[in-house]
Amino acid sequence: MSYSLQGKSVLVTGANRGIGKALVQALIERGAKRIYAAGRNSEGLAAIVQLAPSIVEAVQLEVTRAEDIQQLAGKLKQLDVLINNAGIATGITFSAETSLSIASAEMAVNYFGPVHLTHALLPLLRASKGAVVNVSSIAGIANFPILGPYSASKAAVHSFTQGLRAELRGAGVFVQGVYPGPVDTDMTKDFEMDKASPADVARIVLNGLETGDEDIFPDAFSQAMYEVFKQNPKQLEQQFGQMLG
Ligand SMILES: NC(=O)c1ccc[n+]([C@@H]2O[C@H](COP(=O)([O-])OP(=O)(O)OC[C@H]3O[C@@H](n4cnc5c(N)ncnc54)[C@H](OP(=O)(O)O)[C@@H]3O)[C@@H](O)[C@H]2O)c1
Repeated sequence: MSYSLQGKSVLVTGANRGIGKALVQALIERGAKRIYAAGRNSEGLAAIVQLAPSIVEAVQLEVTRAEDIQQLAGKLKQLDVLINNAGIATGITFSAETSLSIASAEMAVNYFGPVHLTHALLPLLRASKGAVVNVSSIAGIANFPILGPYSASKAAVHSFTQGLRAELRGAGVFVQGVYPGPVDTDMTKDFEMDKASPADVARIVLNGLETGDEDIFPDAFSQAMYEVFKQNPKQLEQQFGQMLG
């Protein structure tokens, strides 16, 4: 498959910082016609619009709010690509005291948010024979126990991606899954390890979209870990498990 982002309309969630902001910057460079920068922080979004005011439009979206999703779906008339990027990682384990409420919040944002938003925008994506990009994590391939409930929400995103891809293949809608390792954003500011740059991740994601790669491992860590997984899934589980100490 060969797909050009030139002249396309793209919606990015969580666009005000981190990987979302880098995706908006990369989409401007690739000639997207209209970029809907979605988020809940209007000040942060205003700064993103300033990157290219004639192309980037700020859209208010808290992904767990049904009213926001309905309003957005009513407003958009055309959409080629939906990038489900918004996410939270709370750094809580399954045995922590607050694990139930945290697991529920992470599932609401990381999994039900993309499921709900994609469902609402599907008529537009079917009409354009467009694409859905879901940002999961390498922790969605094997559980990262220092972020156990977060990993479970990202495994749910992975499964959503697989199911949606099979459902939409006949309709000509491309579905891509993205499985990063550590990326240098606010989300990982407390982790001491090598991290990929958001700009590199954005570039590799968009390259994959243009060449039709369904599964994107955009950094050295995720690529190495996916190789382990392909050889022996149990070994990856054990390797991640050892990180708990
Ligand atoms: N950084 C990594 O190492 C890494 C690795 C693997 C996967 N990922 C995934 O990559 C995606 C982007 O993460 P990041 O590293 O760029 O994190 P980040 O810098 O913390 O940015 C997260 C973005 O998501 C938005 N967001 C959070 N909750 C939201 C909600 N309920 N409704 C709407 N927007 C919401 C945030 O908006 P506010 O500014 O309003 O909070 C922010 O724009 C996430 O899905 C994350 O799980 C990241």
